[in-house]
Amino acid sequence: MSDKTFAEQTVVVTGGGTGIGRATALAFAELGASTVIITGRRPERLAEVAALHPAVVPVTADVTLAAGADAVAEAVQARGGTLDVLVHNAGVFRFSPLDALDADVVREVLDINLTGPLLLTGRLLPLLRSPGGSIVLVSSRAGHNPSPGGSVYAASKAAVHSLTRSWAAELAPRGIRVNAIAPGFVRTDAYAANGLGPEQVAGLFEHVKNEIPLGRVGDVADITPWITRLAEPASELVTGQIITLDGGMDLS
Ligand SMILES: NC(=O)c1ccc[n+]([C@@H]2O[C@H](COP(=O)([O-])OP(=O)(O)OC[C@H]3O[C@@H](n4cnc5c(N)ncnc54)[C@H](OP(=O)(O)O)[C@@H]3O)[C@@H](O)[C@H]2O)c1
Repeated sequence: MSDKTFAEQTVVVTGGGTGIGRATALAFAELGASTVIITGRRPERLAEVAALHPAVVPVTADVTLAAGADAVAEAVQARGGTLDVLVHNAGVFRFSPLDALDADVVREVLDINLTGPLLLTGRLLPLLRSPGGSIVLVSSRAGHNPSPGGSVYAASKAAVHSLTRSWAAELAPRGIRVNAIAPGFVRTDAYAANGLGPEQVAGLFEHVKNEIPLGRVGDVADITPWITRLAEPASELVTGQIITLDGGMDLS
């Protein structure tokens, strides 16, 4: 990949204020994208990332709302009106044991992880470069594995796997590619966001390490090159693929 693979390109990364989204946005900027629009609900987290690279444009937007999708579309239109790459990264995990199922949690997870990508893709499709545009969804290995206590999240990511393949088939005639990555455990704020303290997170990662054939939990740097790789023009024959990045957990 040349240093400026995404020169002159406009990229949208949802959930770009933290974790995988933040690292992905900065990776696209480093690879020459002229505009990287990042979204999220917390403007302060978006501003921190925007301060790190002049190509990064923060847009406060909730993926569950049509108004959020409108705000992203307006930002694209204000910068030339053509979108090259759309990364659906915003997502939440919530514990959802069946004997303590909370309807609000079910709706929250499905709204963010499933309705969010649907609303935003529908709104941005007229702006997506055709042919040549690319969509990358950040799914999870939970989308194709059992997840006791996390079935709502797993179901939402199974749905994301399904969107990937349906959209790939639907948009192929327009020359738009759609792919996904499915990470295993990655060190991000996602675990603290579920109320786990630093020691609990460290304990969890120590425990799951034993279930990972390659012997370690992932970092965001393990993930972002796959997102940029799937999005880049050199991958023009790749569509409808879901790449699992889990240190081999799927093998057992
Ligand atoms: N970390 C892992 O082990 C792991 C494993 C597999 C898959 N994933 C997936 O990777 C993606 C990124 O997660 P992460 O690990 O980087 O966790 P993270 O740091 O908690 O990132 C989640 C991002 O989503 C944004 N978000 C949540 N709800 C939103 C909403 N309604 N509207 C707009 N943005 C929203 C958050 O921003 P605001 O809160 O400011 O809105 C945040 O920036 C998720 O889809 C997750 O399911 C993570």
